[in-house]
Amino acid sequence: MKTLIIYHSTYRKNTEKIAQMFAEKYGFELIDIKNAVNVNVSDYDLIGFGSGVYKENLSPKLFKLVESLDLKDKNVFVFSTSGVGMKLYNSKLIRLLESKGAINKGSFACKGSFTASDFSDKKIFDVFGKLSQGHPNDKDFRNAEKFIKSIL
Ligand SMILES: Cc1cc2nc3c(=O)[nH]c(=O)nc-3n(C[C@H](O)[C@H](O)[C@H](O)COP(=O)(O)O)c2cc1C
Repeated sequence: MKTLIIYHSTYRKNTEKIAQMFAEKYGFELIDIKNAVNVNVSDYDLIGFGSGVYKENLSPKLFKLVESLDLKDKNVFVFSTSGVGMKLYNSKLIRLLESKGAINKGSFACKGSFTASDFSDKKIFDVFGKLSQGHPNDKDFRNAEKFIKSIL
């Protein structure tokens, strides 16, 4: 399966680490959204979209790019890293992909480290910030691999 991953990872490269593991172990091609010009997805059997979560959303740039792509009948998946590591954050992008006729093969999420004071003064985030330290860790990478194997 010829696979492309397009990702946005600006804060701590947490999402990029997962994308790079996929590239190294499975030969996927990677495009950092920063360098995404004239993306042509027609050659690929599977396209993954990865992003960090910023204020409860995946990257708006990724949404914009997805809007512009021809994804009819394309196999796709979404992955994200976030302070809490919830798959729920992927839902909105999955809905957009499906509305464009893409076939959702699955979704993966894990924690990515952050420092609460970088984006919020809410106390609750201090707790999540502490719990996120060291992520993505070895277990996250193993789970990411398990996920990929299940959809290839
Ligand atoms: C501005 C900002 C907003 C964030 N908002 C959330 C959030 O709403 N929920 C959450 O779980 N994590 C949040 N985080 C934590 C990031 O999702 C987490 O660190 C992620 O791994 C960053 O991915 P990246 O290093 O690939 O950019 C936020 C981080 C930043 C810097």
